Amino acid sequence: MQDNSSVAGENVRMNASLAPSRSIESLAPFRRSPENHSAIPAQVTGQIPHWLRGEVVRTCPAVFETRAWRAQHWFDGLGMIYAFRIGGAAIDFRSRLLDPEAARDAWRGKANLGSFGTPTARPLLQRVFAPVARISDNTNVNIVKMGQDLVAMTEGDRQNIVDRDTLAATGAVSYAKDALNGAIMSAHPHFDFERGKVLNVATGFGVSGTISIYEHAPAARQRTVIGSWQTKRVPYVHTFGLTPQQAILVAHPFVVTPVKMLWSSKGYIDHFTWEPVEGTRLILIDRSNGAVREHVTDAFFIFHTVNAFERGDTTVLDVLAYPDAQIMASLRTVRMAATLPELRPALTRIVMRRGIERATVEKLSDVGFEFPSTHYRRVSGQPYRFAYGASDGHRPDGTYASAIVKIDIEQGGTQSFSDGSYIFGEPLFVSRPDADGEDDGVLLTVGSAQNGESSMLAVIDARTMALIASATVPSSIPLGFHGSFVRGEG
Ligand SMILES: [Fe+2]
Repeated sequence: MQDNSSVAGENVRMNASLAPSRSIESLAPFRRSPENHSAIPAQVTGQIPHWLRGEVVRTCPAVFETRAWRAQHWFDGLGMIYAFRIGGAAIDFRSRLLDPEAARDAWRGKANLGSFGTPTARPLLQRVFAPVARISDNTNVNIVKMGQDLVAMTEGDRQNIVDRDTLAATGAVSYAKDALNGAIMSAHPHFDFERGKVLNVATGFGVSGTISIYEHAPAARQRTVIGSWQTKRVPYVHTFGLTPQQAILVAHPFVVTPVKMLWSSKGYIDHFTWEPVEGTRLILIDRSNGAVREHVTDAFFIFHTVNAFERGDTTVLDVLAYPDAQIMASLRTVRMAATLPELRPALTRIVMRRGIERATVEKLSDVGFEFPSTHYRRVSGQPYRFAYGASDGHRPDGTYASAIVKIDIEQGGTQSFSDGSYIFGEPLFVSRPDADGEDDGVLLTVGSAQNGESSMLAVIDARTMALIASATVPSSIPLGFHGSFVRGEG
């Protein structure tokens, strides 16, 4: 056990001079308590809205090393599912490590599946006969409800179905055999509630790359490709934008030539290079006929789109933009063991007018934040006013205090919530029944204590950004990425 004294206490001194070989797991916000397969009660303070019934279900990277394997990138930590179940005035908590092929391999010291930023341990002979590694099924990025299934996702060709009661994975999602077999699906599907469709983006590699938008009914597992874009230099795709008419790919210049991945043992992302002279291309795929239209603007890098909508002959896409792809390197575990990465992309509006190739770009806010959310069901694909997210908490004095922020895009201005001792992740917006406005509801966000001793589900009034209730458990949940609120019965 390593000494944690420099990272204990209310505020973590993130720039402490830690040895580069120190494990990310020694840093309190990435510490993992033993699993809670059986529900434990959370200590609730404040007033939980009587209408708020359901579960916050999330996935996160949780195991960064075994005796014979060590994740070299945050995104490669072995996944854990956890859930806060909200029922009336009581909230309980469960957690369970996933046990997919990737995890079993890592525990055995034979990490042969292609992972995000950690080399595979594939022997040379295996690489010769199978030039491209099979892709990891370590679904640690997101978990969403598709039909009756709770589906855990990573950026891969496999997704895992998770049992809602036990949180155990019960098997892979079984898509019908199609042209997308083997392609990398994003972990950020969109939902078109009006048409009853799930849409997602998949990247397939051959001599060149093919990025496809596909759709299926939530309960169906037959994917229909609605449009594709081919390119020799394939961008890293984490999310995409969606309006009722179009899907929008952000082809930023963080790219790979597919042949580079043959016979390689490097992590997936380590084949990509930043080529800013190419600028960022925006690829608009018409959902009705697959027609492709392109725009271009200066180079930037994104993980997340925030929203998109149409305005006459103009398509608007809001993203969280970084000036370059440096952020990817700062998410390596060796760097994160010394300091949390600075997640300060700018909320940026890209405006694309039909017939004009050049897209215009406008910064909408000076607040740097990640893990964006909106009142998705109401505003996805539509003009909207409010965006929410988790803001970067680095302070000049070396301490850290993250916040949940609310950006008023229409009228300007920011509101925020922070308590200083927890590091909060993605806020999930849940609308009040019979809501009378876009922000009439609550934000649910999970915070990991900076001293590693507890975690908290915060219930925040989205209108005022005041904390209205919290549920604390004596369990350390490693910082993670995404999840869902699954409404309960009654
Ligand atoms: Fe993401």
